[in-house]
Amino acid sequence: MKRSDNDPERLVSATRGEEDSSFELKLRPRRLAEFIGQNKAKEQLAIALEAARSRGEALDHVLLFGPPGLGKTTLASIIANELDVGFQQTSGPALQIQGDLTAILTNLRERQVLFLDEIHRVQPVLEEKLYTALEDYKLDIIIGQGPAARTHVMDIRPFTFVAATTRPGLLSSPLRSRFGILLRLEFYTEDELRYVVERSAEVLQVPIDPDGASEIALRSRGTPRIANRLLRRVRDYAQVRGSGTIDRSTAQAALKMLEVDAHGFDELDRRLLLTIIEKYDGGPVGLNTLAATLAEEEDALEEVYEPFLIQIGFLDRTPRGRVATRLAYEHFNLPLPRRANMLF
Ligand SMILES: Nc1ncnc2c1ncn2[C@@H]1O[C@H](COP(=O)(O)OP(=O)(O)O)[C@@H](O)[C@H]1O
Ligand SMILES: [Mg+2]
Repeated sequence: MKRSDNDPERLVSATRGEEDSSFELKLRPRRLAEFIGQNKAKEQLAIALEAARSRGEALDHVLLFGPPGLGKTTLASIIANELDVGFQQTSGPALQIQGDLTAILTNLRERQVLFLDEIHRVQPVLEEKLYTALEDYKLDIIIGQGPAARTHVMDIRPFTFVAATTRPGLLSSPLRSRFGILLRLEFYTEDELRYVVERSAEVLQVPIDPDGASEIALRSRGTPRIANRLLRRVRDYAQVRGSGTIDRSTAQAALKMLEVDAHGFDELDRRLLLTIIEKYDGGPVGLNTLAATLAEEEDALEEVYEPFLIQIGFLDRTPRGRVATRLAYEHFNLPLPRRANMLF
């Protein structure tokens, strides 16, 4: 069967990138009780779910925000599972034209979850259409062209809109105000990540001891996706070079080979900090200058790399630009600059 351009299926499958590999799907928790950590967000969500269920209504719209790999997509699908309703997924970049959005919204089933990833990348025209859909479950559609064009208001079924973003600051305030439930995901603690690693090892049937799990957890940058990725690489190493069981020394040897250091820094983390220290005397240096020097995208630096470096206190964002902190100098064993404003 040939699919038309407006086929919602096309938009939905277009968002299934590499990230949604079968591996990630397999390790993805399906129930709220299986979702490790994020206690604040989980509690807020559990109450809202319970209330919506007992009233027999669609759950209020949910905005999930936080750095990549912390469980936004996972929570979105958990919401649908917990409500026992359908789940449909698309993303900001996949929505190209008004017809795309109209097709998706008019095909929704009662109370189902529509998940929109990367909502900050939705085009402004479409964003305005979303407002009325989210508020009144109504959609303005224009029929015909030119002077004969007529606006027709269409009802859509009550549904739950779940959106995710790494950049909540980019959402307009009218859009933000359409969400009743705002859930901020935080970096995970070491203990929480150890549970993530142990749970994943069990699912994958990889023998691991607690020290091996801790070693992976320590170097996962507070991020379950990275913990799972490292687990997989360390498993390969344990099978080929070790006894098959992941213990501390196997994990250490594997992570050394993968060039993942004690903080889980990869090559770009190191290059970013060293560039600020060595080329810009510790900063402040503007994001655009830094991105140009590193030959990286500003967005990737801001969304993926900086949040963790800031969280662990190696980097600071100031009004005049990025600054490497004392901890960063110490990490690389470099002498602190004799700057009067070296506050950290
Ligand atoms: N709280 C959690 N407990 C267990 N595993 C998790 C948790 N959060 C994320 N994961 C794992 O990390 C992977 C990435 O999560 P995902 O929801 O895709 O992150 P995001 O959408 O925020 O980028 C998932 O496949 C899942 O296996
Ligand atoms: Mg995601």
